[in-house]
Amino acid sequence: MELLSDLIDIADVKLVIELDDADKDPDGITSSFVFTDEIRQSADIILKRMSGDNGCGIFLKGNYGSGKSHFLSYLYLLLKNRLPLLEDHPGLKDRDFKAVKVSLVKYPASRSLEDILLSAFGHAAKVIDREKTFSEIVDRHTVLIIDELSEFLRSKPSPSSFYEDIRFLQFLGEFSFHNPLWIIASLQEWIEETGHISSSIFNRIKDRYPLRINLTSSHIEDIIDRRIIIKKPGAGESIKKIFFELKKYYPYLPLKYDDFKKTYPLHPFTVRFLSGLTPVFSQHRGVIHFVFSEAHRMLDRPADELITPDAIFDHFEERIREIPEYSPFARVAI
Ligand SMILES: Nc1ncnc2c1ncn2[C@@H]1O[C@H](COP(=O)(O)OP(=O)(O)OP(=O)(O)O)[C@@H](O)[C@H]1O
Ligand SMILES: [Mg+2]
Repeated sequence: MELLSDLIDIADVKLVIELDDADKDPDGITSSFVFTDEIRQSADIILKRMSGDNGCGIFLKGNYGSGKSHFLSYLYLLLKNRLPLLEDHPGLKDRDFKAVKVSLVKYPASRSLEDILLSAFGHAAKVIDREKTFSEIVDRHTVLIIDELSEFLRSKPSPSSFYEDIRFLQFLGEFSFHNPLWIIASLQEWIEETGHISSSIFNRIKDRYPLRINLTSSHIEDIIDRRIIIKKPGAGESIKKIFFELKKYYPYLPLKYDDFKKTYPLHPFTVRFLSGLTPVFSQHRGVIHFVFSEAHRMLDRPADELITPDAIFDHFEERIREIPEYSPFARVAI
């Protein structure tokens, strides 16, 4: 009898990437980085923007574990170490960027965003005139990479401190329109969902950060396939058999073999449920973590025993119980 471990290897990966990893293990970040279709397109759009004379505000949105920090760390190293990809963009060939990165998770939310970002630029003096201060700081093409922006805003201690940070973001976005400053900030939810924003401020933020990139579940499936679950040579035949056996039970399931193989050993229903269950994910417990640990648990099981949706309940039980909309289901399931 074939076991799951006969068909796959599970890559030994660091499940959560932090921006600091770009300093601690730059080669690890770049060599393990996978260009999914979404990443390729997004990187292309971002780099095109960076070849202009004026900057732009960019929001990168994705769920827990979707790869925001890995992408930002890669972009940082791309600019800092002038990786070959830069040479593919004609406008960037001779452009020497100042790249600064800030992971907001390291700072108490009581500190102002302006204060944190200024210190990241090594600016200690008091700001009298923002425009003047930032014109001095942005003395050449500058890219400011900010990780965990939405969590930071969400944990602001008071509406006024939240509003002050939003105003500052608005300033930065505006400033980027006529200066060579590119701001790339990661979010788990769109800014307007992090707290109360009046519609006029909302519209201004939207205008100042016109480039919005979303890492979707299709990108995550590619990461699972290409980075986490490594199919052994020759495993294709067995996976195909398992697929057609499954099709006997679900003849109307609109699923192609290639898609099944991509997320094997997940049952197709598990994949479907996971993409709609974003509220139960949390730091250290996203989709990648789920697949990684559940596949480990199944390694000694028969290869046709897929990871079924009930594993979602067990894995995320704590979160399911915490969330008021879901907790009644937890009581029924027990
Ligand atoms: N493009 C990619 N190439 C290779 N590995 C990736 C890629 N995207 C994500 N991963 C892997 O997925 C895992 C989660 O990535 P990461 O920590 O960057 O997610 P995140 O979106 O920042 O999550 P969080 O919201 O919890 O901070 C890591 O193991 C990371 O290496
Ligand atoms: Mg992250």
